[in-house]
Amino acid sequence: MILQDKFGRPITDLRISVTDRCNFRCVYCRSANPENCRPESEILSWDELVRLARVFFALGIRKIRITGGEPLVRPGVEEFIARLRALGFDDLSMTTNGHLLAERCDSLLRAGLRRVNVSLDSLDPVAFERITRTRSCASVIAGIDAVQQSGLAPAKVNAVLVRGINDGEVEAFAAFARDRGVIMRFIEFMPLDADRHWSRDLMVSAAEVHRRIAAQWKLVPIPHAPSETARKYRFADGAPGEIGLIAPVTQPFCGYCSRIRLTADGKLRTCLFSKDDRDLRGLLRGGVSDDDLAFYIRSVVHEKEEGHRINAPDFVPPSRTMVFIGG
Ligand code: 5AD
Ligand code: SF4
Repeated sequence: MILQDKFGRPITDLRISVTDRCNFRCVYCRSANPENCRPESEILSWDELVRLARVFFALGIRKIRITGGEPLVRPGVEEFIARLRALGFDDLSMTTNGHLLAERCDSLLRAGLRRVNVSLDSLDPVAFERITRTRSCASVIAGIDAVQQSGLAPAKVNAVLVRGINDGEVEAFAAFARDRGVIMRFIEFMPLDADRHWSRDLMVSAAEVHRRIAAQWKLVPIPHAPSETARKYRFADGAPGEIGLIAPVTQPFCGYCSRIRLTADGKLRTCLFSKDDRDLRGLLRGGVSDDDLAFYIRSVVHEKEEGHRINAPDFVPPSRTMVFIGG
């Protein structure tokens, strides 16, 4: 029987964080101050990850997204992707900050990656540096251009808007989608930042983004599967590119969620906002059998939360921030 939770949602989609290290320090994710990544011994080895992936495949997982931290900073991702392909996974994608993408695009494609999401929070090098605390704006855009020249096209480009920093760039991002033919996605800022600065006032809603883009270019909705997080639009004038609006805060899509997450240190999380996670690493290293592992995973998934509670009066952000979960 395929993985399902107690609300009857089929769970078919796994996000694997392969490292908690990152070469950026985005304000909506990490702290400015050095925060410690976990010691190497606590991070699952590639062999451990492959073993877990095999068990997840047997449980009906068909879609894997590789995340971090920044997945491209861990050597060996390409080999890992090839091993996932050999296990039978076909729908393989990656979320990356794009800094190393231009040089890795071809090897990722050859390994079997199908799609890539690149974070790009500003087109202006100064604002880009305020957000990511790096000067990599040009290299990220070069990474996106490399994707567009490759079999990984079209790139999905993710922007998190933070009021007062990059919210002035909505129209510029839409123009970027049209110029480059990329899928430009706006993700509402969620309370997952290390410094706990999140507030509703800093978040820019999907409705506002839609209103502003539609004021300039007529948008036509594209049908989407219920479990897809983005509401998708194309340009009525036939220009290339797409717009995706992801509204986890103002229009939660938890009711159709098909996702679970494996953190780099081997914890299974059934929601971005889970209060606790479940340890698979200890089981693996304690010599658990595949059958017992599968049984345990099934029981954890069964208890997946009904939804996040960002909008509840007693909401408490998870103790893990985004860099330690995986996007
Ligand atoms: N809110 C919304 N999106 C976030 N991401 C990271 N932190 C947050 C947050 N607090 C996004 C990044 C990237 C993906 C890994 O998750 O922009 O696209
Ligand atoms: Fe790194 Fe991604 Fe977090 Fe930015 S959002 S600091 S790129 S893990």
